[in-house]
Amino acid sequence: MAKQKWWGEHDRISFPHVVYSQQFSRSDLDILFQLALIIEKTLKKNKRVDWLWGNIITIMFFQPSTRTYFSFWSAALRLGAQVMASENAGEFSSAAKGETLRDTALVMSDKSDAIIIRHPEIGSAGQMAKFSKVPVINGGDGPGQHPTQALLDYYMIKKQFGKINGLKIAMVGDLLNGRTVRSLCYLLSKYDDVKIIFVSPEQIKMKDDIKDHLTENGIKWIETTDLEAAAASADVIYQTRIQKEWFPDKAEYDEVSGIYIINKDIIKLMPETGIVMHPLPRVNEIKVNVDRSKKAKYFDQAAGGDYIRAALLLCQLNPAKARELLNI
Ligand code: CP
Repeated sequence: MAKQKWWGEHDRISFPHVVYSQQFSRSDLDILFQLALIIEKTLKKNKRVDWLWGNIITIMFFQPSTRTYFSFWSAALRLGAQVMASENAGEFSSAAKGETLRDTALVMSDKSDAIIIRHPEIGSAGQMAKFSKVPVINGGDGPGQHPTQALLDYYMIKKQFGKINGLKIAMVGDLLNGRTVRSLCYLLSKYDDVKIIFVSPEQIKMKDDIKDHLTENGIKWIETTDLEAAAASADVIYQTRIQKEWFPDKAEYDEVSGIYIINKDIIKLMPETGIVMHPLPRVNEIKVNVDRSKKAKYFDQAAGGDYIRAALLLCQLNPAKARELLNI
């Protein structure tokens, strides 16, 4: 399959809905990256701007979250928008009385200018987007996708290395249930000469649909159980939590829990320029004493989420300002 040309035409500045990470082209990603850099620099100086003044953003989360929920909220406030939020919408919205996502979308899109949703069912954000009159952003749909996490992962990696092409990325841990690794694979598949090492036990291997997608897009990948070997050659270790909540019984979780821990010994094996990322939350899969290493980038990664999400909201709700900032 032909890859999209790097530095494509800057003709897409507005994203109607954000549902899957495959929907972004390389030029979309470049626009968002450049805009996020400008927003980061501006907000570090000014804290708050009025570029989204007058907009109301709804955040409806049907699953727990710290980063995504508050990152969108913070991004919206810092751009001057106002926020309506439900952090436990499964219990406190009328979904608890049986209202469908279709009807929720029809109602909430009359009250707001964008809707951000996290929901336990795959396809839920897409379902809402189908009926919403305003942009919908997927903040995680069950074990499906988490496209804005992939965007912030991309932001971290590109800021660190100045490129995506040619990097070797080891994805470690729960690759079966993790939506972040799925969305990141879809983004990485748009680049050239990227190599992915999947490090996991047999029970929680990456699903075939992602491996097939990578192969179809010319991305080389291997599977291994050897974390030390992967660490020795990877530019990025992308560690993930073993997601207890998706295991049908505790015994199965106990078999794999704690199987891969990033500690100081693993850090020493990595190339000098290598970095450790993690979508967070962390339980025990990265030792706290690794946080002091210059290779530990997971908190920087999370912080960058506010800027790339702000860039996305700006493109959706005030594309003229986005164009002005980008000088395009
Ligand atoms: N990375 C991430 O999605 O974290 P939260 O579940 O806290 O939003």
